[in-house]
Amino acid sequence: TQNQKLKGKKVLITAGGTMERLDPVRYLTNDSSGKMGFAIAEAAQLMGADVTLVAGRTTEQPPKGVKVIRTQSAADMLDVVVNEFQNADIVVKAAAVADYRPAVVHEQKLKKTGESLVLELERTTDILATIGERKSHQFLVGFAAETEYLERHAMDKLQRKHCDLIVANDVSQDGVGFNGDTNAVEVYGPEGLVEALPLMSKRATAVRLMELISERIAAGGGS
Ligand code: PMT
Repeated sequence: TQNQKLKGKKVLITAGGTMERLDPVRYLTNDSSGKMGFAIAEAAQLMGADVTLVAGRTTEQPPKGVKVIRTQSAADMLDVVVNEFQNADIVVKAAAVADYRPAVVHEQKLKKTGESLVLELERTTDILATIGERKSHQFLVGFAAETEYLERHAMDKLQRKHCDLIVANDVSQDGVGFNGDTNAVEVYGPEGLVEALPLMSKRATAVRLMELISERIAAGGGS
């Protein structure tokens, strides 16, 4: 059993990938399984938090006892997160949100025509940056999935998206990031590297992350 360090705290977590429709039977998505976000939800719940989980496309069962809100597109997830984050004390954004979506969603199944097809994509709204600008008392934790320059990109995201912590994973490494049961992350705060967690289960990563968050909040960090 865990300690109850997050008792009374409302924690909002996003997990999984978004699905961006092209036509009634086709969509763009990514490799996120939801495992990292679900592990964070479970860890927060074990520490006594009141957890709301916003889940995109996942292959996993969410932990029992947490409130789950299902979403598909980045736009759906944005609506839910903007609505829910007002009541949250802590927000952790582990979801892999599409940066681009098809500019046109076709009502009928696209027909095969020419030898090649060019798809036009348009930018989605950045959910983390949106709530970063609007946050008041919330402690905001983002993720950064990178394949190079982990520290530089993590610090850039922390500042641009007004986060209190960024959890950076180098997803080019074996056993790190998308899909598996393990992760290795570096946690950054405004002052730089806070802690580097070695390769370990996503569950253990999640427990340490929630401990770090509760320590920072207890020390008066955030916002
Ligand atoms: O789900 P798993 O299979 O367990 O894999 C875990 C994971 C690799 C998905 C997870 O560890 C992770 O890194 N999640 C973030 C993935 C991601 O989209 O990273 P990013 O660097 O592209 O985005 C940075 C942050 O901005 C993220 O917190 C993301 O949720 C957020 N974002 C991005 C784009 C967008 N339009 N809106 C956002 O809020």
